Amino acid sequence: MLCVSISPVRSTVGMAGCPGLGWLSLGLVLMAAAPSLCQGCPQRCDCVPQLRSVVCHRKRLTSIPEGIPMETRLLDLSRNRLRWVEQGDLEPYPQLEEVDLSENVISVLEPNAFSSLRGLRVLRLRGNQLKLVPMGAFSRLANLTTLDLSENKIVILLDFTFQDLRSLRHLEVGDNDLVYISSKAFTGLLGLQELTIERCNLTSISGQSLSYMRNLVTLRLRQLNVPALEDQNFRKLGGLRGLEIDHWPFLEYISPLSFQGLNLSWLSITNTNITSVPSAAFRNLAHLTSLNLSYNSISVLQPWAFRDLVRLKELHLVGTGLASLEPQALGGLRQLRMLNLSTNQLVTLEDSSFHSVNSLETLRLDANPLACDCRLLWILQRRKTLNFDEQPPACAGPADVQGRAFSAFPDSALFDHFTCQKPRIRNRKLQQVAAREGQVVSFTCRAEGEPSPTIFWISPQRRRITPRSNGRVTVLPGGTLQIRYAQVIDSGTYICIASNAGGNDTYFATLTVKGLPLDAALAVNRSYYAGDLNDTNQNDTRVFLRFTLDIKTILVSTAMGCITFLGVVLFCFLLLFVWSRGRGQHKNNFSVEYSFRKVDGPSSSGGQGGARKFNMKMI
Ligand SMILES: *[C@@H]1O[C@H](CO)[C@@H](O)[C@H](O)[C@H]1NC(C)=O
Ligand SMILES: *[C@@H]1O[C@H](CO)[C@@H](O)[C@H](O)[C@H]1NC(C)=O
Ligand SMILES: *[C@@H]1O[C@H](CO)[C@@H](O)[C@H](O)[C@H]1NC(C)=O
Ligand SMILES: *[C@@H]1O[C@H](CO)[C@@H](O)[C@H](O)[C@H]1NC(C)=O
Ligand SMILES: *[C@@H]1O[C@H](CO)[C@@H](O)[C@H](O)[C@H]1NC(C)=O
Ligand SMILES: *[C@@H]1O[C@H](CO)[C@@H](O)[C@H](O)[C@H]1NC(C)=O
Ligand SMILES: *[C@@H]1O[C@H](CO)[C@@H](O)[C@H](O)[C@H]1NC(C)=O
Ligand SMILES: *[C@@H]1O[C@H](CO)[C@@H](O)[C@H](O)[C@H]1NC(C)=O
Ligand SMILES: *[C@@H]1O[C@H](CO)[C@@H](O)[C@H](O)[C@H]1NC(C)=O
Ligand SMILES: *[C@@H]1O[C@H](CO)[C@@H](O)[C@H](O)[C@H]1NC(C)=O
Repeated sequence: MLCVSISPVRSTVGMAGCPGLGWLSLGLVLMAAAPSLCQGCPQRCDCVPQLRSVVCHRKRLTSIPEGIPMETRLLDLSRNRLRWVEQGDLEPYPQLEEVDLSENVISVLEPNAFSSLRGLRVLRLRGNQLKLVPMGAFSRLANLTTLDLSENKIVILLDFTFQDLRSLRHLEVGDNDLVYISSKAFTGLLGLQELTIERCNLTSISGQSLSYMRNLVTLRLRQLNVPALEDQNFRKLGGLRGLEIDHWPFLEYISPLSFQGLNLSWLSITNTNITSVPSAAFRNLAHLTSLNLSYNSISVLQPWAFRDLVRLKELHLVGTGLASLEPQALGGLRQLRMLNLSTNQLVTLEDSSFHSVNSLETLRLDANPLACDCRLLWILQRRKTLNFDEQPPACAGPADVQGRAFSAFPDSALFDHFTCQKPRIRNRKLQQVAAREGQVVSFTCRAEGEPSPTIFWISPQRRRITPRSNGRVTVLPGGTLQIRYAQVIDSGTYICIASNAGGNDTYFATLTVKGLPLDAALAVNRSYYAGDLNDTNQNDTRVFLRFTLDIKTILVSTAMGCITFLGVVLFCFLLLFVWSRGRGQHKNNFSVEYSFRKVDGPSSSGGQGGARKFNMKMI
């Protein structure tokens, strides 16, 4: 049985010799073995007449085979050895809607190569050797919706390459050696809704070139060597809903204005070299509902890092090496439902980091070195309603519950395990230091508690001094307050506060600094440190003592006042005593004279009367 070809037979110079004897004989064998069902099907191809499809996948073809029915709709020539597509090669099949030329060795596309295929909807050229797409290669393909040019060797996208493709919805240009996208390369792509650019050598993505794709909904930019997102990098893409930036190893800078003009509902910036949440850039993203910042190295979440993302529902921060969330780190996220903090370095997650934990439905906290103390109690108490995505977190400490999953604790055991120990400051000996101007003064403050307390100090000017304060007055890692180059104005009472989730403990130390006479050298140092004295550059250093002084604090401060007072009184008595001893064995008479003054009587009544004397004896 022979396949009857009703298509006009065409043979180009290049192809003439190619079919060769090899496949002719193979064809004969095949034909003998399996009678072809096709009516007008090229040898060795599979045809489904109902679908009008011709599939010549992996047939070592070096040219377009003969015998393709004229009315063919789908032509699959993938994984063959085609080298080029010339104008006219596909002209005899005007009804083609889908052409798959993937994984051939095509290195040349001629202008107008496909221009006769007005009904073409899908064109796949993935995995070829294209270096350049000439202008006009895709001309007149007004009905094309999908074009795949990935895995080629395209170095540059020229202006107007895609000009006529106004129906194109999916364009793949990944895995090329792209180093440059000409600014007008994407003109005409008004129907494009999804674009992926990946694994290219691009070092910049110009906002100008992207701006022609007005109707883009999803943009994926993966594995690029772009170091920065510039101002208005995505301008005029007002319809964009999703943006993915993944595997940009050089990305370090995201301009605060880079997302200006966008109205995204999901954003993913993953596997880059950024080290903090680009909070300022999020200002324009009030409609964002999902944010993925996984696999960046973000070790700390600052307070209010996401403050502008008022509609955010999902936040993924997986594998960022996250070690701590500051209080209110998630401040502003009032609709947060899903938080994925899997695979980090978190020791705890306090509810004070959240805007409100009430909206939270799903929490991934697995693969973190969690310390199971009172700070995590809130999660335990909600463990029946909170969804852990089938990965309940487990305790990494303390030792007696190590490795135990949160779901394994019975209600009755919660308060045995999830406890904290209030800090206690050791060595409460009063530290009173008198120093001379210019000296280095330090006060120790060591505290113990579970979890280990953080220590900060309050200066006499009521500024908070923490290990992060830089300048003349700082707190050393052990909690010791160090004042370099002491000044007279440093005198006063310093309060050490040791606090942890269990509570806080306070302790006082006083410093008196005696000024030195002014000399020239000192004057230099004085002015050198003058800037340090006010600490005006640090907004957070000023503290308004908001904590209520507990009874102990009051007692201690009262006691300190009392001690001073009692000291003075005692000293007076002592003086008196010594003086009295100095008078020897004499008994002293104190004479106390008490005199009346006649109120109504005339005062002119001479010297006598009116006054009496009392005598008092001291033994
Ligand atoms: C292009 O698509 C439109 C709508 O799908 C269709 O009406 C038109 O016939 C197509 N053009 C060709 C040449 O097939
Ligand atoms: C693109 O980058 C890859 C890997 O870094 C390199 O092998 C290739 O030569 C580069 N291509 C161009 C055109 O620079
Ligand atoms: C990422 O940043 C670090 C320092 O911030 C730098 O040392 C490193 O080279 C950067 N990596 C790349 C691939 O640029
Ligand atoms: C932004 O997108 C949301 C839907 O995601 C829409 O409700 C809102 O109107 C859009 N805002 C603007 C300014 O386009
Ligand atoms: C977040 O990004 C990472 C890395 O690209 C990816 O593996 C993960 O699936 C993403 N998560 C979600 C929920 O999309
Ligand atoms: C959280 O992140 C992990 C790791 O990327 C992922 O497997 C998981 O699906 C994420 N969870 C959700 C709910 O997206
Ligand atoms: C000290 O602890 C009390 C309750 O024990 C708390 O109300 C107060 O805010 C804490 N003060 C500081 C500065 O942590
Ligand atoms: C002034 O400060 C320098 C160090 O900054 C120090 O070496 C020098 O002794 C100081 N001078 C006086 C008089 O304290
Ligand atoms: C510190 O305060 C003094 C007086 O209050 C002022 O003259 C000086 O300029 C201030 N220094 C700084 C750095 O603000
Ligand atoms: C300091 O904090 C106040 C209120 O918290 C704020 O209004 C002000 O802008 C801040 N100043 C600086 C320099 O950050």
